[in-house]
Amino acid sequence: MPLTLVDHPLVQHKLSVLRDHRTTVRDFRALCTEISALMAYEAMRDLPLEDVTVETPVAVATARRLAGKKLAVVAILRAGLIMADGILGLVPSARVGHIGLYRDEDTLKPVQYFVKLPGDIADRDVFVLDPMLATGGSAVAALTLLRERGVAHPRLLCIIGAPEGVAAVQAAHPDVEIILAALDERLDERGFIVPGLGDAGDRIYGTR
Ligand code: PRP
Repeated sequence: MPLTLVDHPLVQHKLSVLRDHRTTVRDFRALCTEISALMAYEAMRDLPLEDVTVETPVAVATARRLAGKKLAVVAILRAGLIMADGILGLVPSARVGHIGLYRDEDTLKPVQYFVKLPGDIADRDVFVLDPMLATGGSAVAALTLLRERGVAHPRLLCIIGAPEGVAAVQAAHPDVEIILAALDERLDERGFIVPGLGDAGDRIYGTR
């Protein structure tokens, strides 16, 4: 499955501000929300449509609406929450799942602490949300869990990815589409994406 890079100028411009260490918590949050909405707009380009008949004030029109399965977004806590906010602005009726994972700072392995998913998640088009794809441990764990719950073709939407994370997801889930705004150079010894933007969760919530 190919890696999709959203290279739209608006996304790239906003990402440049997001990376800047001087960007305030307030602006960081707003930018994450805006970038997520723009990325989702691109990522949902292939959603199937069906013809419907609508009566306008003037005449009967054939229009097109989203067909088939409904959407769900699954936020990897904490940082994925802000992406869900942005996407719900575009698709307000999407269902939202939450998977709580934190990365153990010593082992860099994901530790699961919370799962709550829509009951009909297996019948939905699912986008997994996390701003950062670093080692890929969190994304692989979330995708594996969703697969176990019957989700056939989840997609992964991250703002910045490291080559190591992309490789890990592709090895564990080769059929999952990964959508990024940027593919960065590498991970450092602490598992941070270089150049990246720091710790997304801490920058969104002002916790460092
Ligand atoms: C960060 C980030 C991802 C994860 C990426 O979360 O938001 O969820 O690490 O790392 P990985 O690809 O190596 O798994 P963190 O553990 O800092 O939790 P937080 O979102 O609650 O801050």
